[in-house]
Amino acid sequence: MTTSSPGTAGDLGSALAAAAAELAAAGVPAPRVDAELLAAHLLGCSRGRVRALAFTDAPVPAGYADLVRERARRIPLQHLTGRAAFRHLELAVGPGVFVPRPETETVAQLAIDAARARLAADGTVRVVDLGTGSGAIAAAVAEEVPEAEVTAVELSDLALAWAERNLEPRGVRLVHADLRTALPDEDGRYDVVVSNPPYIPAAAVPNEPEAADHDPKMALYGGGEDGLALPHAAAATAARLLRSGGFFVMEHAEVQAQALARHLENAGSWLDVRGHEDLNGRPRATSAVKE
Ligand SMILES: C[S@@+](CC[C@H](N)C(=O)[O-])C[C@H]1O[C@@H](n2cnc3c(N)ncnc32)[C@H](O)[C@@H]1O
Repeated sequence: MTTSSPGTAGDLGSALAAAAAELAAAGVPAPRVDAELLAAHLLGCSRGRVRALAFTDAPVPAGYADLVRERARRIPLQHLTGRAAFRHLELAVGPGVFVPRPETETVAQLAIDAARARLAADGTVRVVDLGTGSGAIAAAVAEEVPEAEVTAVELSDLALAWAERNLEPRGVRLVHADLRTALPDEDGRYDVVVSNPPYIPAAAVPNEPEAADHDPKMALYGGGEDGLALPHAAAATAARLLRSGGFFVMEHAEVQAQALARHLENAGSWLDVRGHEDLNGRPRATSAVKE
């Protein structure tokens, strides 16, 4: 790449093309998008603005080549920019915390819909997010259902520090606890429990280096050969925390959909067990209503 000189006049268009080629060669899945987003980050503008600037004599921002090189080493884009988009939010993220994924936006939507329904019926609603990571789901609920009382539970010290940055300004209560035993004095007090727990089976290492090398192991592996130990624990905690008629929704892998539905049906605490598809039509979440 020849884009490292700061403020090279008229080079932005060709620097973007060169960066996209370098990222493509490194196997980055959306190389042009990432090339534009890295430039947008350095210029402090939108990706759309970068695309417009590429047709002018705008200079290449200082440090661009270095960032592109880091991205080509498959450092997650969000660790380089320090931000992750989630629904309407831009969350602070970095090393030590799971980068929120687009499929989780659908899970957050189900929790938001349930919270809104409860609010309309009752005038109040209490929501808890188990294994909050960056705080993505809890922050989205707090932002989109401002009347909701939202609690977020997380065990990792590193993740907790990121969650604090995202949740404190939104008035979410953050609790440092194990989701298996969290909130022991609050049984039956919640209307909605939502979780994207770790669920990857021990032997299924993610293909993408961004996930395998940079997402915390504690955020990925669900425990047990099938990865279902923590999802089962999240369901048990949800059954304890929810009032009768309360709503539980949890993300999981496509291959776990049937086993989890069976688990909830056999647990004796749940009615109306339902599978939900993500935006690609894959069964990636299951919900149930507390008996
Ligand atoms: C897949 S990540 C999801 C993070 C966030 N909810 C999201 O959707 O982006 C799972 C999270 O659960 C946390 N976690 C793992 N084991 C836990 C436990 N026993 N108790 C509480 N949190 C736990 C991890 O640290 C991680 O932040």
